[in-house]
Amino acid sequence: IFAAVEMAPRDPILGLNEAFNADTRSHKVNLGVGVYYDDNGKIPLLAAVKAAEKARLEAMPPRGYQPIEGPASYTQAVQNLLLGADSELIAAGRVVTAQALGGTGALKIGGDFLKRLNPSAKVYISDPSWENHRALFEAAGFQVENYPYYDAATRGVNFAGMKDCLLGLDAGSVIILHACCHNPTGADLSDAQWAEVVEICRERGLVPFLDMAYQGFAEGIEPDAVAVRLFSASGLQFFVSSSFSKSFSLYGERVGALSIITASKEESGRVLSQLKRVIRTNYSNPPIHGGAVVAAVLSSTELRQMWEDELAGMRDRIRAMRSGLVDAIKAQNVAQDFSFVIQQRGMFSYTGLTAAQVERMKDEFGIYAVSTGRICLAALNSKNIGYVAEAIAQVVKG
Ligand code: LMR
Repeated sequence: IFAAVEMAPRDPILGLNEAFNADTRSHKVNLGVGVYYDDNGKIPLLAAVKAAEKARLEAMPPRGYQPIEGPASYTQAVQNLLLGADSELIAAGRVVTAQALGGTGALKIGGDFLKRLNPSAKVYISDPSWENHRALFEAAGFQVENYPYYDAATRGVNFAGMKDCLLGLDAGSVIILHACCHNPTGADLSDAQWAEVVEICRERGLVPFLDMAYQGFAEGIEPDAVAVRLFSASGLQFFVSSSFSKSFSLYGERVGALSIITASKEESGRVLSQLKRVIRTNYSNPPIHGGAVVAAVLSSTELRQMWEDELAGMRDRIRAMRSGLVDAIKAQNVAQDFSFVIQQRGMFSYTGLTAAQVERMKDEFGIYAVSTGRICLAALNSKNIGYVAEAIAQVVKG
């Protein structure tokens, strides 16, 4: 039965981990996947997470099945974080939230639900986007197209092109938007541009789907929620996938959520009932541990403060790596100006390195990056930054 099975290509991001792990060079550096490492090159276990885990271990709670959509302690904490604890939408019962297997799992259950709602809709993703967006929505059965986004000349957003495209789309088209820290480019819309996108979605009857995987990595929890808050003030219905992989450093626990903003409490009941069917036939109900830890941190004043401070520490360290890299490349007498790296937001830099240059970085230096030229700044540290800058300098000099 497997004789005709073809070899699938490696995943463009997670596949790099496989290649990196197989590399025996001791000076190798993995700038591929979006993971935050501390200055010692270790994935941190946050103190707030550790405290919540310790309390859970001591309590030794039973491990029964969870509600299909996850426990209310978790889903309410997620809603408060996304929409603000004083949100009128939450008070009005207009928000449906289901715990999901990371941000990817949230996109998947959202995609499956949308496919049942509107099977002939097309899905639009930014050009470029996170590689898995296309794959996820195609796997859900949709035709996936691009809308213009990145302008390589300005290293910013081609907002005129994006608007033109959105204004021409059919009603019911699903628009995947990066709520903050655009992956891979690090180029975000301004608040005023977000307000315009909200109006276009209203005017054209589009279905906004915000992907929020990096809340807290640009400016902080509240400022990074600006797009979600503008959509919630608009009265529109929309989707938000959120992830705690990076912000809680809980990658392997797969902690995320799908939130759907509906028109009424009554509508929420019907939407949740359908979402539960999607979840039940995917993985039945979510795992306990990661969600319980996140809920415990977010519902304790003390742990929440501890977490926000740790998140700020991660954000500041990434910023320091941005300017450090720019300076270190400059010190290598590279003619090209890399100062744009400082303006980009989130974990990544879209360096402009070509696929051939990325390949050279891997072959000659053991430095792994995504073939599009995306590097993860959060994997740089005081020990490897000079080496990485030297490698970038060598490949851009030709
Ligand atoms: C990334 O873009 O590297 C992260 O979002 C991890 C992933 O799942 O691809």
